[in-house]
Amino acid sequence: MSVTMDKVVSLAKRRGFVFPGSDIYGGLANTWDYGPYGVELKNNLKKIWWKTFVQDRDDMVGLDASILMNPKVWEASGHVASFTDPLMDCKKCKERIRGDKLIEQHIGIEAAVGKTLKQISEIIKEKKLPCPKCGSSDFSEARSFNLMFKTHQGVVEESSALVYMRPETAQGIFVNFKNVVTTTRMKLPFGIGQIGKAFRNEITPGNFTFRTREFEQMEIEYFFDPEASKWEEIFAEWKKLSWEFVCKTLGIKEENLRLRDHDKDELSHYSKGTTDIEYKFPFGWGELCAAAAYRTNYDLTQHSNFSGEELSYTDPQNPQRKIIPHVMEPSFGADRIALAIMLDAYDEEEVDGDVRTVMRFTPALAPIKVAILPLVKNKEVITQKAEEVYHLLKKEFTCEYDESGTVGKRYRRQDEIGTPFCVTIDFETVEKDNCVTIRDRDAMTQERIKIEELSAVLHKKLGI
Ligand code: GAP
Repeated sequence: MSVTMDKVVSLAKRRGFVFPGSDIYGGLANTWDYGPYGVELKNNLKKIWWKTFVQDRDDMVGLDASILMNPKVWEASGHVASFTDPLMDCKKCKERIRGDKLIEQHIGIEAAVGKTLKQISEIIKEKKLPCPKCGSSDFSEARSFNLMFKTHQGVVEESSALVYMRPETAQGIFVNFKNVVTTTRMKLPFGIGQIGKAFRNEITPGNFTFRTREFEQMEIEYFFDPEASKWEEIFAEWKKLSWEFVCKTLGIKEENLRLRDHDKDELSHYSKGTTDIEYKFPFGWGELCAAAAYRTNYDLTQHSNFSGEELSYTDPQNPQRKIIPHVMEPSFGADRIALAIMLDAYDEEEVDGDVRTVMRFTPALAPIKVAILPLVKNKEVITQKAEEVYHLLKKEFTCEYDESGTVGKRYRRQDEIGTPFCVTIDFETVEKDNCVTIRDRDAMTQERIKIEELSAVLHKKLGI
């Protein structure tokens, strides 16, 4: 069975995971809203990330910085000068495209990386690459387009009030480095983690939530002393941790994942080495997250120079020695990973001549952990018992109570939202044994369990 983007987009809308943004007004291109199940899924992902990388580690603390920052931050970080993409216009249909992406799509990534604007224009002209919309191959020269969204703070729209919507959460961490060191007394090596929105005025957003202009990042800046630790070792360690998080903790299938080192020409302006984790999306391999990027001490040095604040760290063994720490950065996109989780979990199988669609989420990620289903709805004794079980389990798990339609239909609905376990209550429960039936989403096996043991059994089965 091949998983197409259309199938997942359709299920996401039909079942309340992701809706088109501003839907009743005809939408706003490439904006998406998370529905009741989507928000649970994404929140679970963020919670697991936070627990794994911040709460469970002694060398990590968290932060929640503002989206709007002093514009000098973006001058210092290099984003004003270098956070650009090569923009071209199709002269025939006026479609705006990214020149490097057009080359990548038709010739390959090697042909696109590290090319100047002039080289991009020349390759596209020479190879007569077609406009993705109208097929013509007559483009304007490539020019540099800055991806940062601009807005104005306060009531006057003048340049002194210009502010940017942050294009990465990372800079909020760098500008708070000193605050964190002085308030927590963290010792190198240590990291700061943050989850939050980022904005990029992408030229070619698309592929559902893969590339949008508003998205959420989960980022770590891990500070270390380059004389005490080799960057190559820290790089290897974070690559391993990021990989394990994606395939072991989130349960994304290893065969759909690969590591890819950036070529020298492809590296961001701040990076000395970057390795991405890529996922096999229905449109091909695409960046899922940056497993590790070695940002050297570029950012802290820049902020130190631009702000005039000394952003150094005093070696506790030798107080005469002050250093500007180096940084390893694993950077995860919450929306893009949530999309990969949905694509990876999607499955169809034939059951009794019917197609069963099932989202095989890792239990910890599933939006609803347990559904409580009374076998018949118009028998008060049964619904009463079912409600009792529902209120009992609701204290511990995200639960759903459903009494509408046949039990078969209710199972299918829960399969489509990826609920790992359904609990049914029948006549025997109330008349005979005070037992319920647990139905397993994946194996479709059923097991009778005493109500008193239900909570413990579910905790064990769910692994939470
Ligand atoms: N601080 C480093 C940084 O921002 P990046 O590779 O540009 O690095 C990190 O972004 C991650 O953020 C990506 O791997 C992806 O998961 C997510 N991301 C980036 N741009 C995105 C977009 N336009 N839409 C959705 N997710 C995006």
